[in-house]
Amino acid sequence: MRPSFAPYPAARSRRLRRTPAIRAMVAETGLSPADLIWPVFVREGEGVREEVPSMPGVARLSIDNVVRAAEEAAELGIPAIALFPYTPEPCKSADCAEAWNPDNLVNRATRAIKQAVPELAVMLDVALDPYNALGHDGIVQDGVVLNDETLVALERQALAQAEAGADILGPSDMMDGRIGVIRQALEREGHKDVLIMSYAAKYASAFYGPFRDAVGAAGALKGDKKTYQMDPANSDEALREVARDISEGADMVMVKPGMPYLDVCQRVAAEFGVPTFAYQVSGEYAMIAGAARAGWLDAERTMLESLMAFKRAGCSGVLTYFAPEVARLLNGAG
Ligand code: PBG
Repeated sequence: MRPSFAPYPAARSRRLRRTPAIRAMVAETGLSPADLIWPVFVREGEGVREEVPSMPGVARLSIDNVVRAAEEAAELGIPAIALFPYTPEPCKSADCAEAWNPDNLVNRATRAIKQAVPELAVMLDVALDPYNALGHDGIVQDGVVLNDETLVALERQALAQAEAGADILGPSDMMDGRIGVIRQALEREGHKDVLIMSYAAKYASAFYGPFRDAVGAAGALKGDKKTYQMDPANSDEALREVARDISEGADMVMVKPGMPYLDVCQRVAAEFGVPTFAYQVSGEYAMIAGAARAGWLDAERTMLESLMAFKRAGCSGVLTYFAPEVARLLNGAG
């Protein structure tokens, strides 16, 4: 039971806001580099840094530069990096076999990072879209995204990623039953310590647009992802998805996108009490970075405010393309 509050003037809310020291003392939420996961786009080549036009400030990096980024992340106190491949067109197919190639881009990059910066956690996306000639997260037959056939492919992909040394697998495909299948395969093959951060409540969102440019999937995608990603109208359904993924063996769960779904973040974190992450996705990044570039928003303050919001909603952390910039700010290095 809350006590009844004194009326004005015995109570003056502004006393607690008067100075920076007092505000810091009573802040309910904090943001630190340890709360951040940095998503990075990997491409072929050497010494390459190729800007993504729809994500100003973000670039596709060749593996040598990804390793440099990983070293930077570790120095900044960022605990994890998440890798996404810009797959060369000839490697895309209907069966998505490149997904479980032990030497595909993300698997090679993972090995290189784990050798150079073993203490940094590497997270990999388990989903077929970067390898699918049709741009979907699952195997497509006659225009239909097949669930159970896709699970077989996801299992192979997950095992190849675990073999490459990934610390965290992030199934982002939204097929039914995938967490259970992946967890069982990991146990069976001796990867019992590999974490699963399930993209549990992932919505069919227009905010993924710039990401699809970045990974080269935008042109390929036929139709939309509404038969597997969630309807933005729903929030009870998110709780059911999360409950299922936890019961199938997910260690952590994610809500995606982030800011338009803060209500879902809060419900999930409050209801389940498992480590809950938000993905501040490419479109959210583009809005802030684009407006900042145009001089319409203050970049630093907007980034920090947008990320603090996730902590306030109860999230353990956030995947954000702003990770290195924000970590530098939080470390006082500007
Ligand atoms: C694909 C995947 C997507 C993102 C992460 N993994 C896009 C999609 O589902 O189409 C989006 C990330 C972002 O927009 O930043 N499985």
